[in-house]
Amino acid sequence: MPLVTSEEMFKKAYEGKYAVGAFNVNNMEIIQGIVEAALEEKAPLILQVSAGARKYAKPTYLRKLVEAAIDDTGLPIVLHLDHGEDFEICKSCIDDGFTSVMIDGSKYPFEKNIELTKRVVDYAHERGVVVEAELGRLAGIEDAVNVSERDAIFTDPDEAVEFVERTGVDSLAIAIGTSHGAYKFKGEPKLDFERLEKITSMLPGFPIVLHGASSVPKEFVELCNKYGGQIPGAQGVPENMLRKAAEMGVCKINIDTDLRLAMTASVRKYLSENPSQFDPRKFLGPGREAIKQMVAHKMRNVLGCSGKA
Ligand code: G3H
Ligand code: 13P
Ligand code: ZN
Repeated sequence: MPLVTSEEMFKKAYEGKYAVGAFNVNNMEIIQGIVEAALEEKAPLILQVSAGARKYAKPTYLRKLVEAAIDDTGLPIVLHLDHGEDFEICKSCIDDGFTSVMIDGSKYPFEKNIELTKRVVDYAHERGVVVEAELGRLAGIEDAVNVSERDAIFTDPDEAVEFVERTGVDSLAIAIGTSHGAYKFKGEPKLDFERLEKITSMLPGFPIVLHGASSVPKEFVELCNKYGGQIPGAQGVPENMLRKAAEMGVCKINIDTDLRLAMTASVRKYLSENPSQFDPRKFLGPGREAIKQMVAHKMRNVLGCSGKA
């Protein structure tokens, strides 16, 4: 089974009202933990690589590790570039065998975002690769306190329709209140479901993507801190909100921070309880298992994609 694109996965997810998990990968243990969970859950899977991850592990290593995961399990896997910031990195990943790339032109004005995205779409589609783009800004913790600020930051539904039509992009990441990292909301967590509803009703059947979708479970923050961590009070997206988004046409949900927390908590715990241990396999093994448990939980209880591979 070779790498696949997300086209069929998204069609099924949209119709089945669930989302496919897109998990960030940086090393072998993370890839193995995620893939083991997908295998046990019989879930569709997107493994995504950021520019930072590519730099850390070197492009060849990550691609070969993902190929090894496919050889080992026979699972259909999408290999996706996360947050490609220019044409060159998208081209490099397409030439390198990725089946999906994200061109993130969200920081640019509308017309420039369209132009950049269209250039990537033209190059990718000629080579059978699918493209995700982003429109709107993922709000930071201080942003979007009132309605007019929200309108300036969040994705405009009319613009989303025009953007999709003019670029021919295959999926679109939108801003409705999520953000990256462990500190997403100052007060009560809130997503703009009205806006999501409007966008999905104006783009029926079209796959919408949600970034910044970690829930930052309190118990993992506490576990990190119990074993020497100093993570201040963090706040993620409640899992029931993600479930709701998945039922409303969000086909891909990006999760990285929760995996980082799960792995770090387990490594901290192991080393703290076994201070004389210095064999990396002894602490990376539990780290891998923690990733597996976290991903299985997301697939089964949040994304709704267990049993859908
Ligand atoms: O959205 C970004 C992902 O969490 C990847 O983060 O750039 O630190 O690899 P990174
Ligand atoms: P989190 O930081 O919420 O895990 O989001 C990850 C993400 O959006 C990767 O593109
Ligand atoms: Zn993201």
